[in-house]
Amino acid sequence: MALATQTDRRPSAARTLWDSTVGKKTIMAVSGLIMVLYLLAHMIGNLKIFFGAGQFNGYAHWLRTLGEPFLHHTWALWIIRVVLAVSVVAHAVCAYQLSRRDLRARPVGYVHRKARTSYATRTMRWGGVILGLFVVWHLLDLTTGTVHSGGFQPGHPYQNVVDTFSTWYGDVIYIVAVLALGLHIRHGFWSAAQTLGAGSRTRDRVLKTTANALALVLTAGFVAVPVGVMTGIVS
Ligand code: HEM
Repeated sequence: MALATQTDRRPSAARTLWDSTVGKKTIMAVSGLIMVLYLLAHMIGNLKIFFGAGQFNGYAHWLRTLGEPFLHHTWALWIIRVVLAVSVVAHAVCAYQLSRRDLRARPVGYVHRKARTSYATRTMRWGGVILGLFVVWHLLDLTTGTVHSGGFQPGHPYQNVVDTFSTWYGDVIYIVAVLALGLHIRHGFWSAAQTLGAGSRTRDRVLKTTANALALVLTAGFVAVPVGVMTGIVS
């Protein structure tokens, strides 16, 4: 009887993973990698803007018909949205909990804030907050049109994107966010690889180069769109 009670109280594997520091870091690594895959696809899709309105709007329409006739209209897009939303929430919650845990674990004697956390950790935290705020702005701008600068036209993303990047603040918001994204991914990819056990003395150089290349490709690919509109290549 006593044995049964003890067994009943044993936490589930999922609970143990969620409660442990290494578990939270693993959740951050996996959710981060899912978001990077999405961003690579999103960045490549965005570059279709250089092939004209027909191609870009056609691509946005195709996203909604993806998986048909097996899946119903927009179901695949909704599956992607749900996976992304779960990843964003899991990533942010674990980051918050790990930083609380980190602060609690530190001796109270530190006087200077800066001495408590490393430069990379602070950059990751602030970068994460900036990216979270950016995604909210971005959805209100180009998905719902709530904060859009011109007359938002549902189903016409080409014109909506051109409108956004025809304002100085649209360019500033997106370029700052994309630079923050590059820095975040550069360090985040490296940390994720270490957490998932991919690091070793021989592989670390390759991992660092991959992290740099990934950050550079994403930054350049995303920045190309506002630059294209600003220079009149896309209009
Ligand atoms: C210059 C950069 C970017 C451009 C031009 C751009 C463009 C767009 C457009 C046009 C949409 C709406 C698609 C549609 O409804 O058909 C969209 C959706 C979205 N973008 Fe971006 N994007 C950029 C950067 C980013 C970045 C850096 C992130 C994340 C950090 C991001 C995350 C998202 C998300 C999560 C959605 C919603 C997907 C959906 O629910 O349909 N985007 N983007």
